[in-house]
Amino acid sequence: MIKIAPSILSADFARLSEEVKEAEQAGADYIHIDVMDGHFVPNITFGPLVVRALRPVTDLPLDVHLMIEEPDRYIKEFAEAGADIITVHAEACPHLHRTVQLIRSHGVKAGVVLNPHTPVDVLDYVIEDLDMVLLMTVNPGFGGQSFIRSVVPKIERTAALIKERGLDVEIEVDGGVTAETVGECARAGASVFVAGSAIFGKDDRRAALQGIRGAAAA
Ligand code: DX5
Ligand code: ZN
Repeated sequence: MIKIAPSILSADFARLSEEVKEAEQAGADYIHIDVMDGHFVPNITFGPLVVRALRPVTDLPLDVHLMIEEPDRYIKEFAEAGADIITVHAEACPHLHRTVQLIRSHGVKAGVVLNPHTPVDVLDYVIEDLDMVLLMTVNPGFGGQSFIRSVVPKIERTAALIKERGLDVEIEVDGGVTAETVGECARAGASVFVAGSAIFGKDDRRAALQGIRGAAAA
């Protein structure tokens, strides 16, 4: 099943609740929320207060992508703010297994994110505890960057690992996802697609979202 997760990073922050409602009406499956700290990535966005503010706005799962150092310090706050899925970067977690357990202890789905250069091997001893693997197809920090095609074989390897272990783990892809790039990611085994500029950068969000969904299913 194909899921589309519009990233509010490219939405109009002055009208965030309307933007989220519009994404829901356009047929979104998750709302993707990009949290950046100005350290792990060279950009700053927002924290748990915004997740809390958006929680009553939509019934869709809030997919919270933490691009921050020391995520353990904030997981409880994001969980209490209403996150349904929390993903942390393997590169930011020296004790990744502990961080994953911490997320789960709050009743939230846990995911691990890999930067474009990070090998799939880091998942070997933690994948059994995951609900999601998020593969970055850009270097995190900004919306509107170009898709890094060399990550596509990594999607295949991740899908093979999940199949080999007989697990039920979603593969999400984030960065440069458009109607042009989504097909190869879907064929490689991804099922959840984050799209920021390709949805919120368009006037007709429904057409944009459905165009990506159609191209993923083709
Ligand atoms: C990048 C973020 C993405 C971003 C994607 O650091 O993790 O979620 O919003 O934006 P687009 O879809 O424009 O590449
Ligand atoms: Zn993201």
